[in-house]
Amino acid sequence: MRVVTRVSDLIGNTPLFELARTATGTRLLLKLEQFNPTGAAKIRMARQMVLDAEETGQLRPGGTIIESTSGNTGLGLAVIAAERGYRFTAVVDNHACRDKLAAMRAMGAQLVFVADEGDDQLATSAREDLAARMAKETENAFFTEQHNNPSNAVGYHAVAHELTEALGGDIDYLVCPVGTGGSLFGTARELRRQGSGVRVIGVEPVGSIAFGGPGGPYYQSGTGTPPGAEIGTAVDYDLLDEGIKVSDVDAFATARAVAAYSGLMIGGSAGGAVFAALERLASLPEGATVVTLVCDGGEKYLDTVFDDRWMRARGLLSPEAEAGVTRLLAAHDPTADGSR
Ligand SMILES: Cc1ncc(COP(=O)(O)O)c(C=O)c1O
Repeated sequence: MRVVTRVSDLIGNTPLFELARTATGTRLLLKLEQFNPTGAAKIRMARQMVLDAEETGQLRPGGTIIESTSGNTGLGLAVIAAERGYRFTAVVDNHACRDKLAAMRAMGAQLVFVADEGDDQLATSAREDLAARMAKETENAFFTEQHNNPSNAVGYHAVAHELTEALGGDIDYLVCPVGTGGSLFGTARELRRQGSGVRVIGVEPVGSIAFGGPGGPYYQSGTGTPPGAEIGTAVDYDLLDEGIKVSDVDAFATARAVAAYSGLMIGGSAGGAVFAALERLASLPEGATVVTLVCDGGEKYLDTVFDDRWMRARGLLSPEAEAGVTRLLAAHDPTADGSR
């Protein structure tokens, strides 16, 4: 067991979990990014954005980091800012889950809200406009701007190296949620650079516009591009083989069914990607390996996705959808006798 001196030393080397396997040996592996500090993948790119900004002189000692964030990026930046002696201002809306905001505060971040209390709509564009304005008006401040920052995708190159180390060249499909695009396309680009022929499948909520319209509201958090927001520069359509849309009902039903069936808590956006992967698994070539990045764990969504009242009030609770996912999990249970 290694002794570390910085929380960021604990980033990476996250485990792989086999969730499903078909009779033909096609398997769905989950890379459990919730095992990173902050319980999410985003801290990988938060560190990269800060290190690169230091190197280019855009961030100087004692400076202020500013970012528009739905939560996980903010958590990652809060850790890195605390470690490296920066102030950190997170521009947030009430769509973010309360625990993420409380944890950012605990690590010394200043929170600036763009929406009034009780308004839980996603406000990505308003957040970004305010963050850009604040960065201009604040002395020695750097807007990390995850949606347009090349360091975002670079922060995930290590995911590709970890996958290659664990699986050799044996990764046929990468199925992941797409928000800024950093995690899917950063990982995929590095896998392809290593010579992998991996097929790249992006997943976004119904209502998100990166893979075509129509746009509309959705509750999956940390993923998708809402109508009116600009599609991030990390979304690389040349690398994308297929873009899939998953409804909130199916994404959340999947997160809930996976928790109840296997005891693994995954977040709502990972639920969307797992739904897309599970649905296709049996039709994929024999022996194929599918990898999904679980961006964060379900523990962050106890008062939303895993709260029946919250789900029912929004028309999202669907025992039928959950039963459908449970049937797929049982049909493709990778444990020999069906018990874990
Ligand atoms: C909850 C959540 N969903 C989805 C994603 C994927 O986002 P992106 O495309 O910005 O990498 C992330 C990022 O790690 C996330 O934390």
